[in-house]
Amino acid sequence: MKKIAVVGTGYVGLVTGVALSDIGHDVTCIDIDEHKVKRMQEGKSPIYEPGLDEVMARNIEAGRLHFTTSHEEGFNSKDVIYIAVGTPEKEDGTADLRFIDQVTADIATHVADDVIIVTKSTVPVGTNDYILKKIRERLIHKVTVNIVSNPEFLREGSAVYDAFHGDRIVVGADSKEAGDVIEDINKPFGIQVYRTDVRSAEMIKYASNAFLATKISFINEIANICEKVGANIEDVATGMGMDDRIGSKFLNAGIGYGGSCFPKDTKALAQIAANNDHHFELLESVIRVNNQQHSSLTTKAKTVMGSLKGKKVALLGLAFKPNTDDMRESPAIAVSSELLLAGADVTAYDPIAMDNAKKVIPEGVTYVDSTEEALAGADAVFIITDWPEFKELDLSVFKEKMATPLLFDGRNCYDLNTVASANINYYSIGRSPVENGDIKTIS
Ligand code: UDX
Repeated sequence: MKKIAVVGTGYVGLVTGVALSDIGHDVTCIDIDEHKVKRMQEGKSPIYEPGLDEVMARNIEAGRLHFTTSHEEGFNSKDVIYIAVGTPEKEDGTADLRFIDQVTADIATHVADDVIIVTKSTVPVGTNDYILKKIRERLIHKVTVNIVSNPEFLREGSAVYDAFHGDRIVVGADSKEAGDVIEDINKPFGIQVYRTDVRSAEMIKYASNAFLATKISFINEIANICEKVGANIEDVATGMGMDDRIGSKFLNAGIGYGGSCFPKDTKALAQIAANNDHHFELLESVIRVNNQQHSSLTTKAKTVMGSLKGKKVALLGLAFKPNTDDMRESPAIAVSSELLLAGADVTAYDPIAMDNAKKVIPEGVTYVDSTEEALAGADAVFIITDWPEFKELDLSVFKEKMATPLLFDGRNCYDLNTVASANINYYSIGRSPVENGDIKTIS
């Protein structure tokens, strides 16, 4: 059992801290937000993450999980300090290290015992060396400090599951001893540990996210071609995925990726490359393709409906993916802007992301509390997020509630034959349109 501090209780820090306490470590999570800390002390998670409240509660109860706003208290006599503060994107796409800088100053001021610093935040290659240098320069007490890059690969919405069932734990340490300690800490998870140097660990995180984003933009481009040549993207992706070298995951075509990681990390990696005199051509295309893909439904709607001026359009789903209330870089932001610009009358519903949506979606959208209300009298519906409650809808609701049953589905939620039998006009991604009860084929 180790004594661990985690700085930053965003979803990475909080899930990491909670999971480490659950495998038996004594964990103190530090955050500057008093209100948030008070809520967490009561076992209430500030983020929506399935299963998190429950694991939090049982570890608070067991006396292994603590929350504080005090750096002095938080850093006191810890074996390891995990840095999990945000690294937001600056205007030029580079990572903003403001919060990292603040933490290094706090650590240097307060640590009074030998300590290992573990960076969970996604940081540009070389940042861990910078963190170590900064801390050592400012140390008040004469202690030994080591650094380990231990990037997270958690997916929002399944972060708790991922913390206990990830594919690998990457440990990039500046010394064998520090690496051994971190490997040991993680042993109870039973997940394979991959040991490497600090800079390679930092790069593994960026390269992994960039590769996954590439898979998505690639399959979206194939989907766009499928529409033109009359092939079906789902069959194409299944056939491709049967090749183990390709793999079947992350081949779901749709309205493009969003979220807190892919958009930010792809831009940051392209910028890291540029700063090092390398033009990352492929990654820049991936980013461009994704931005274009966000417009795919609006473009289709304009082709099918002509002008959208005065048309009532319902948006189903606003979060960047299901099981989260996160709106960061959600395609819904671009879609609603385009629809409003085209003069449409936009009504939106999301099972849990509406409060966050109101903060980032342009003004002019009307929010309602159910699918049925969103559909009432609509001329068209756009599906942006594949929430289970949308996928499980009885399709007769579209005919019953809408002025005209016309669906633009950005997540391929429904089977084409079922849609054809329900007699709905339906346009999805990389598949034939369904019009007047017929699946249109190209001959
Ligand atoms: C991602 C990585 O998966 C995770 O390892 C990393 O730590 C953080 O970034 P996350 O952003 O939570 O996690 O979501 P993820 O489930 O990976 O989905 C990202 C986006 O890609 C979503 O907008 C999703 O809708 C989209 N996506 C995903 C697709 O469009 N098609 C797919 O096949 C998979």
